[in-house]
Amino acid sequence: RRDSVTAVRGRLVWFRDDPFLCGPTEAIRYEKDGLLICENGKIVYSGRFRADRVPSDVAVVHYRDHVITPGFVDSHVHYTQVGMIASYGERLIHWLDKYVYPEEMKYSDRKYAEEGAELFCRELLRNGTTTALVFTSTYAHSVDILFEKAAKYGMRMAAGKVLMDRNAPPRLLDSSVGEAISQTRELIERWHNKAGTRNVYAIMPRFPLACSREMLAAAGKLWKEHPSVLMHSHIAENSDEVFEGRKMFPECGTYLDVFKNHELLKPGMVLAHGVHLTLPELDTCHRTGAAIAHCPTSNLFLGSGLFRLRDAKTPSRPVTVGLATDVGGGTSLSMLTTMNEAYKVGALDGNPIDALRLFYLATLGSAKALRMDHQIGSLEAGHEADFVVLDPHATPLLTKRSRTGDGSIEDLLFALALAGDTDAVEATYVAGRRRYARAQDGGKKRD
Ligand code: GUN
Ligand code: ZN
Repeated sequence: RRDSVTAVRGRLVWFRDDPFLCGPTEAIRYEKDGLLICENGKIVYSGRFRADRVPSDVAVVHYRDHVITPGFVDSHVHYTQVGMIASYGERLIHWLDKYVYPEEMKYSDRKYAEEGAELFCRELLRNGTTTALVFTSTYAHSVDILFEKAAKYGMRMAAGKVLMDRNAPPRLLDSSVGEAISQTRELIERWHNKAGTRNVYAIMPRFPLACSREMLAAAGKLWKEHPSVLMHSHIAENSDEVFEGRKMFPECGTYLDVFKNHELLKPGMVLAHGVHLTLPELDTCHRTGAAIAHCPTSNLFLGSGLFRLRDAKTPSRPVTVGLATDVGGGTSLSMLTTMNEAYKVGALDGNPIDALRLFYLATLGSAKALRMDHQIGSLEAGHEADFVVLDPHATPLLTKRSRTGDGSIEDLLFALALAGDTDAVEATYVAGRRRYARAQDGGKKRD
């Protein structure tokens, strides 16, 4: 039996196009009795099950009735915040001071960082997430440690050192712009597209309130030197933040100009939240190619507001949008739970998001935001073989619901997103290898 070849059978679902722009049914690719064959980490066949396509020395794993879809892509999350998820009672700015910054300071300790990174990667896999764009801390070793863990599990991971030089405890701040940039440059050289890993670097100015103009300008300059890395920040999450930011950068015509003025708005920039961006600012995102990471559980938990997805995805000037957990502002690492909350945020806005669009955002949409749609987020042959197997019978409630639905794939996906969560993940495959399998006995095991 060849180790480098994997074959799985089940209901294959993926996207070829953006269902917000073309009709949902034109965008989806669905194979009710599908076969996926992976070789050396890549998909070599995806389509209707055909016994003659399976190499004679390869055993097919049959996930009967299960949904097989690209591994979820979390377009914004903080691995350094797994220890303070679910911290009570504050909104963004006080929450950062009271809970986030003290927790991130603990990452000056390597052992603490290693435990956090190990837990984080395993939890991603348990939730069917195979790629994430990850905030770390200001300490360069916290980036090394995460990239080492991602390499251990073979995951495609994007991350970077946090850049911040004001408005936080001094022990967490960069000592100077020059030092922060030289550490970032070293990390890019050490990790970005390093052979034998799937790691991608992202330059990470934290957000306007924590960065001087000099820091933002230096980040923009560094990006010109290394245009294939990503850029990642937070913007317009909370109304107090926007108010403070407008005061701190009075030279800017709009809040988003803080980034535009330093040439940070281009494809490859991923802006977390964007809840309070105005329509002209969304136009700017469209024109520049900057993407937005929609973080519904976080925006609800921190009382930040309701992201207007319909305005962002207006077909005449669509913005690239991905879905994100934003743990520890977010309250779950499950992208199914995140879809559930995204649906409710849309419903409050008179804009319920259908299941195909929810799954698109969590897979190809996020992959596009990370400029990785040629590699991940799809089951098309040639893509990297990262996928998740979802079980419509994971719980008694899901079993009941799946039986009473109308039998369409749209209905099944909607039931999985709204009534499923971590429990619904049967298995997670990374580069063609099964890296997580749910145990049958209610306990959890990992391969
Ligand atoms: N804005 C700046 N830093 C953070 C953070 O750590 N989490 C969230 N949700 N927003 C931020
Ligand atoms: Zn965040």
